[in-house]
Amino acid sequence: MQEQLRTIGERALAELGAAADEAALEAWRVRYLGRRGELSQALRGLGELPPEERPAVGQVANEVKQQLEAAYAARRTALAEEAVARAFEAERVDVTLPGRIPALGRLHIITQTLREIYEIFSRMGFAIYETPEVETDELNFQLLNIPPHHPARDMWSTLYTDREGVLLRTHTSPGQIRLMREMCPAPIRAILPGKVYRYEQVSARYEFMLHQVEGLVVGKNIHMSDLKGVLEAFARQVFAGMRRWRFRGSYFPFTEPSMEMDIECVICGGPGCPVCKYSGWVEILGSGMVHPRVLQNGGYDPAVYSGFAFGMGAERITMLKYGINDIRYFFSNDPRFLAQFG
Ligand code: DAH
Repeated sequence: MQEQLRTIGERALAELGAAADEAALEAWRVRYLGRRGELSQALRGLGELPPEERPAVGQVANEVKQQLEAAYAARRTALAEEAVARAFEAERVDVTLPGRIPALGRLHIITQTLREIYEIFSRMGFAIYETPEVETDELNFQLLNIPPHHPARDMWSTLYTDREGVLLRTHTSPGQIRLMREMCPAPIRAILPGKVYRYEQVSARYEFMLHQVEGLVVGKNIHMSDLKGVLEAFARQVFAGMRRWRFRGSYFPFTEPSMEMDIECVICGGPGCPVCKYSGWVEILGSGMVHPRVLQNGGYDPAVYSGFAFGMGAERITMLKYGINDIRYFFSNDPRFLAQFG
């Protein structure tokens, strides 16, 4: 029996080395040290031995058991250490490596331009006012002195909706009427920014959506000289003294007289190129003294009040500021373009 116990012990020790993980180790423990394990099974026969032989067998049994328990504990510790070592190796972090810079979002270049425009006009005391992008024909045209079928409608290629008399605004000018009706008879000094929509063939020069900033000043004794002063102060700031400008007489149904402001062409700097249509100048905004009929439609008596208005395109100004020659870059979502304006 002693022999049998020693054989079990040797086999157990030999197998222990092969127990490579927690589960194998546990199976080994159950098999050799468990209450129904091989050692216990062997000791069942102890009672049948003559009493004088029992102590010696019992002693061997204890020795083998202690040996196995000690080996088990050692193996268990070794396996746990190995597991920790493996985890350290697998999850190793080199804290001396340089950090990864998180990719930050940035404001779209048009948003940046718009905010710059808001700042410039805010400093001159202008409030900011937003009006709807879906407008009525009445506000977008009729109340701005553009009756149905008037040839001046050709100035705006319009996107109509299924609903009779409802369209996507072609310019921010209908906001003038909304603002006047809300404020009358108080004086007004405000800009009205927002998206406008045009039924255009998209090209380097035209988009079907762009951003305008409308300006409106209404009060007593407002003159053309005030308009020029405001626009010059604006141009000096937004182009940071980089360009010359000029005013040129023009026509808009809702202003009388009307004028446009041109900026020296950034692309060619004067001699002429395709961008400025070989004139050396690029138009940046339309403006004028608010037409008496428009004042009236807004609720103001043109015999007492006068005003000026202007409308500019944020895309056009951005193109001139940065020398961008294709309007399509702005909304085609190419990060290589957008990332240049951080
Ligand atoms: N609404 C015009 C356009 O979209 C721009 C404009 C011209 C606005 C003259 C004005 C203005 O307020 O006085 O082309």
